Amino acid sequence: MDFNQENERKQAFIEIIRERKSIRNYDPNFKIPHSEIEEILEIATSAPSSANMQPWRFVVIDTPESKEKLLPSVGFNSKQVDTSSAVIAVFGDLENVEYLDIIYSKTSELGGMSEEVKNKQIELIRPAYKQMTREQKEEAVLIDCGLISMQIMLAAKAFGYDTNPIGGYARESLGEIFGLEKERYIPIMLISIGKAAESGKASYRLPVDTVTKFR
Ligand SMILES: Cc1cc2nc3c(=O)[nH]c(=O)nc-3n(C[C@H](O)[C@H](O)[C@H](O)COP(=O)(O)O)c2cc1C
Repeated sequence: MDFNQENERKQAFIEIIRERKSIRNYDPNFKIPHSEIEEILEIATSAPSSANMQPWRFVVIDTPESKEKLLPSVGFNSKQVDTSSAVIAVFGDLENVEYLDIIYSKTSELGGMSEEVKNKQIELIRPAYKQMTREQKEEAVLIDCGLISMQIMLAAKAFGYDTNPIGGYARESLGEIFGLEKERYIPIMLISIGKAAESGKASYRLPVDTVTKFR
């Protein structure tokens, strides 16, 4: 890659980051195909996660019936839910250790680690996960799911869509509404996604020297 290409790539990425704004009103007639939502999610799942356990789980709410079920839970956030093409509910799976063998076996097959290292890792990680308290599991899952949520929003922007992360909803009942076991799946956030029907509002950011110390 020459200098110009590298610079263009950098500028394009910065633009996507800077142009992402929370959008709370979308074209209600615009429907993002499932295949495109799946593509966005697949790209987003390149996010890093603790021990690569990928504890994120998604419920894509995009039928009028499902939106009707969700609306009573979102209070003042109803417009972005109602007009969006879809709402992606991000959950954290506290029993993600179930996928340990498949994740490490596939990583080994891809050449990411030897068979021997894979077996050692599995032997180490499984008991460590089993010993974790619910609080520790929740903490790990919250960090990992925050990272994927951000990737979803940036990937959506790259596809020409806008989003709004939503924390204002009834957390206790969200999983049950969509058939997820409450003890196992903890709700992280809702992300509305669609074709913007308004431009994003200005929002202030604290300067870097306020939030940073070099030591
Ligand atoms: C975890 C989280 C929860 C949020 N919850 C809501 C919400 O319930 N309703 C809403 O309109 N915006 C919500 N937001 C969006 C923020 O208000 C918004 O990101 C912030 O004001 C900065 O504006 P910007 O996203 O346009 O840059 C949430 C953002 C995050 C990260």
